[in-house]
Amino acid sequence: MDELHITGGTRLDGAVPIAGAKNAALPQIAAALLSPHPLELTNLPKVSDVDNMLRIISLYGAEVQRNAGGTVINAQNVTPGEVDYETVRKMRASILVLAPLLARFGSARVSLPGGCAIGARPVDMHLKVLSALGATIAVEGGYIVANASDGLKGARVVLPGPSVGASETALMAACCATGETEILNAAREPEVVDLVACLVSMGAEIEGAGTHRLLVKGSTTWRAASHHAIADRVEAGTYAAAAMITGGRIELVNARMEHLSSVLQVLESMGATVWPGDRGVVVEGHGRIKPADFTTEPYPGFPTDLQAQFMAMASIAEGASVIRETIFENRFMHVPELSRLGTNIALNGSVATVRGQPSLKGAPVMATDLRASVCLVLAALAAQGETIIKRVYHLDRGYEQLDRKLAQCGANIRRVSL
Ligand code: EPZ
Repeated sequence: MDELHITGGTRLDGAVPIAGAKNAALPQIAAALLSPHPLELTNLPKVSDVDNMLRIISLYGAEVQRNAGGTVINAQNVTPGEVDYETVRKMRASILVLAPLLARFGSARVSLPGGCAIGARPVDMHLKVLSALGATIAVEGGYIVANASDGLKGARVVLPGPSVGASETALMAACCATGETEILNAAREPEVVDLVACLVSMGAEIEGAGTHRLLVKGSTTWRAASHHAIADRVEAGTYAAAAMITGGRIELVNARMEHLSSVLQVLESMGATVWPGDRGVVVEGHGRIKPADFTTEPYPGFPTDLQAQFMAMASIAEGASVIRETIFENRFMHVPELSRLGTNIALNGSVATVRGQPSLKGAPVMATDLRASVCLVLAALAAQGETIIKRVYHLDRGYEQLDRKLAQCGANIRRVSL
């Protein structure tokens, strides 16, 4: 298992190419199963979650051709079949293949995804949506067994909560349902908006992208399509935090300012200067970071996927910050590891009080999940001395060439294969 060896204290300065959004790519790869015509996806990030999702759809019979320009998926010969737990448990997003398989073939059998480090992450909302569209759902031996022998029927679907994945399940299922579907309480994340754009390019008729109310016409006539995934706002926010925590300056090439407004607001309140550069968004840190209070919320609120990274920044701020996590019930797994670097963070349920320290000290630490791993990298960039981060395979799930991108900005970082 690889390790990252980081010696902190260097001010980062450079430009980082922001890759395509992992959380846009995964539902788009699943959506390819809906259509018998080729779907070309460009700007897919080279991360292991994308590799895993492409492998899952190929196990159902989809042909995947990856080349420098993009990835062409041909799902003409796909059969519902089933993919084993071993493959599915590695990635919760595998649940996203359930809707397309059920909608297109009238039946599907998909393993229940295991939990993960950040919480139980049930799939009840996905199943409620499919039932509302006329499917019968059973759970047998750890598998979801879904049937809609007469096809799905358009309906008024009210999501119990703003779930990104359940909104994506609803969209994909509704495209094949007979008649119109109204989806209420839909998530507004840019990745959901991008899935709508991808489905529309494939022939779907969908209104209301970016609002809580989506209207899907149904009975889609599919066509060959090509779609370019949006840039990854979480990767962009992560490198913005890297600039801040080292008092440096990074241009986030291809980042979309409009997808980062709540993030940039917090960054500026912590002392960053932010401006649009020639190729993206420039973020510059200046001296001591100011403390900030923030709460994670559904988009356009502050994203939960940047909570750990901003906690790392707060850990060296000049004062105390209060961070509330409202999306996941267990997303403070990074706190015990951060404390090994000398942070002072008190947890009380979903609230973390972070008392900024004048400096951190490097130490060996262990990554637990994707965003917790990168938060340790950020803290290590500011810490005195060397930090060794183990289990960096978590990082590879969602960050493309992180060590190389940071090294190109001047970071003293090495990836060591053991
Ligand atoms: C997506 O996960 C993202 N993953 C997550 O990013 C992100 O943190 C999350 O949305 C919130 O923005 C992908 O897009 C692949 P949810 P998802 O359904 O769809 C509960 C990362 O680091 N819930 O919006 O799984 C759930 O437990 C990952 O890139 C149910 O109770 O998130 C959570 O508490 C981590 N029942 C809340 O809703 C359900 O059926 C929001 O989850 C579904 C969700």
